[in-house]
Amino acid sequence: MKSFMFVHPFFYDTFIRLLYLDGLKILKKIVGVKKNVFEAGCGYGRLQKYIDPSCSYSGIDLNKKFIAFGRKRNRDIHVGNVLDVSRYRDSDVILLADILHHLTLNDARKLLAIAVRFAREKILIIEPTFVIIGSYNNFFSRIIGKIMKWLDADGINEIEKWLTRDEYDALFKSLKESNNIKEMRITHFRRHHFVEMLV
Ligand SMILES: C[S@@+](CC[C@H](N)C(=O)[O-])C[C@H]1O[C@@H](n2cnc3c(N)ncnc32)[C@H](O)[C@@H]1O
Repeated sequence: MKSFMFVHPFFYDTFIRLLYLDGLKILKKIVGVKKNVFEAGCGYGRLQKYIDPSCSYSGIDLNKKFIAFGRKRNRDIHVGNVLDVSRYRDSDVILLADILHHLTLNDARKLLAIAVRFAREKILIIEPTFVIIGSYNNFFSRIIGKIMKWLDADGINEIEKWLTRDEYDALFKSLKESNNIKEMRITHFRRHHFVEMLV
């Protein structure tokens, strides 16, 4: 079942702003200027406002309401599955923001393999760090983990599990190695991992 957050962008936007405040303000610096950015799992394209205006931005998502909302605001976003290669565009930066933890590990690996094919410079993964609270093996964590799964239910996937910090580190490392990524940089900023994979 879809959580209220994914029913209308207004709910998502309000909740996510309260949760992260200005947590994405370093995105502009990480992405740089005059880049083509393609976001897989773009929602309603809210990240466009965090990148430099000299960059082009496009994206795909399966939430039709989110896409229609973003398109009304002139965002170059389209309905499409992140696992469908035919929906991608070659771009300097492939952005995967807040999407990996929605997918099974198997699909996360497929997504990375696709992103590598289309990224000219880098893949930028953004994942929340606070979600590891849901991964601990105690009563409170299990309750919090269930509430987070309910809140973050996108209506497309079922979140399998919340990863521990070590599991996140292991996942990033294995994605780097299995895709022959040249260099990986990880920045922690305001409750997010920013993982740059330079191709
Ligand atoms: C937490 S939201 C993040 C949205 C956006 N990246 C942002 O940061 O605002 C996750 C998004 O992934 C989308 N999504 C999940 N699985 C998908 C799939 N297989 N194909 C396309 N979009 C998908 C959902 O519809 C949802 O909009």
